Amino acid sequence: MSDFLLQLSKNKAARRVVRSLPLPIPLPEALRRDSGPLGDRPLADRAVAIGFADGAELAALLASTLGAAGADPYLAGEAHVPAFRDAGEAYGRPARPIDALGSRAFDALVLDATGVRDVPGLRALFTFFNGHGQRLARSGHAVVLVRMRRDASADEQAARAAVTAFMKSLAKEIGRKGCTANIVEVEDGADARLGGVLRFLLSGRAAFVTGQPIRVSSLASFAEERVVHGPRLERRVALVTGAARGIGEATVRRLAQEGAHVVCRDRPSDSSATTQLARSIGGTPLHVDQTEADAPAMVADALRSFGGVDVVVLNAGITKDRTLAKMSVEDWDRVLEVNLASAIRLVRALEPLLRTGGRIIGMASIAGIAGNVGQTAYAASKAGFSGLARGLAPALAARGITVNAIAPGFIETRLTAAIPVAVREVARRLSALGQGGIPDDVASLVAFLASGDAQGITGQTVRVCGGSFVGA
Ligand code: NAI
Repeated sequence: MSDFLLQLSKNKAARRVVRSLPLPIPLPEALRRDSGPLGDRPLADRAVAIGFADGAELAALLASTLGAAGADPYLAGEAHVPAFRDAGEAYGRPARPIDALGSRAFDALVLDATGVRDVPGLRALFTFFNGHGQRLARSGHAVVLVRMRRDASADEQAARAAVTAFMKSLAKEIGRKGCTANIVEVEDGADARLGGVLRFLLSGRAAFVTGQPIRVSSLASFAEERVVHGPRLERRVALVTGAARGIGEATVRRLAQEGAHVVCRDRPSDSSATTQLARSIGGTPLHVDQTEADAPAMVADALRSFGGVDVVVLNAGITKDRTLAKMSVEDWDRVLEVNLASAIRLVRALEPLLRTGGRIIGMASIAGIAGNVGQTAYAASKAGFSGLARGLAPALAARGITVNAIAPGFIETRLTAAIPVAVREVARRLSALGQGGIPDDVASLVAFLASGDAQGITGQTVRVCGGSFVGA
């Protein structure tokens, strides 16, 4: 069933009336999402306010990244004007003082807090967001950059932890306007990989990603570092399991839009939906049940005929929710087998076929982070993908392959439509954005993680949960 409050909020007159009522929950904001293939200027004409804490290290990189992405930069303070002047000339995007935007709102706020090494340094967060937070447009994006120094002192680590909690809190405050707030943690030596992450987080492709720290590292080496624009996955082969509907279907469509040849795999009982989907995107259907003993070999054979695989999305999953006391051993076994064990067997079979710079992306869940009543089996199976990502990432890094898990929150699909109505309504609302996500929100994150822009992200679990109060 669709979200009644969200539908209501899309009507201007109704929105005005409802906002004037003393309701216990705010009316959710219809999110501004960017769709279609990732272009070379994803931030074209977006007004971005940029602030710097003392000792900021990434001004030049911010200047070139935002300039190349087409953004209009507005600077708080004078200190980094020269870096932006050079980039402004190169991209025709001259930086202006932050007050030059007049009464218009900013599409994004970025604070370079890489110089913050102690608690007094945190004042920069207060000053920047207290001063300019109100000027963030609806569906706008706030990002703070922090440095993950190998030799960070205890003072510095305390300050860094404080930044994360600050941004998670800000996410909850600005979420009612449909805005997001995220933290990018840049490891020593990984600066060149920041740009792609910012292009994603500051765009409407990340509309449902909020309250989330994302780590950028140099772990997964890849000589052919991609700063290419335009279709990102041309000549790439992608496998999506559980492709027939919901998140899987949206992921197939999004990867195909980016130029990948997508092998759509689902159960034989779903063969007509899978075939139709594959046909509509020029991909290949594959009707193999995840739990068949010879499934890994059959999938590997199919991919071998394409000369290997670049992107593996482990999305197939089921729920069989029961409290532990009422759960049968058959249900326990089935959930662990379909969701996790069979996926791990598949990964093992596909490892040799993964090409340099490849991607493994497993569909976890916030239930796997927080646990949930009636979901001991489901949560355990989903958390397994986070462990798999951590365990496998270092081993595959030398081949430039990244391994990550995605933890969706409440996403409007068949799976969540089956939840009892009262529980479903609570699950939707208990989040910073006060609404469920759509399958395309997850698909956008998959497409980003599959692209060269995410070469610095590996071994992580990235939430796409609208700032869910569960497991955040
Ligand atoms: P869905 O039920 O709409 O789609 C799941 C797909 O997996 C179906 O097409 C199904 O046929 C396929 N599948 C199930 N068992 C299979 C098997 N044995 N072999 C091959 N394919 C099989 O579910 P939805 O909502 O699209 O979820 C996709 C993934 O995202 C699942 O892993 C789910 O656990 C995860 N997820 C979903 C959330 C949500 O709010 N919808 C939240 C968190 C995680």
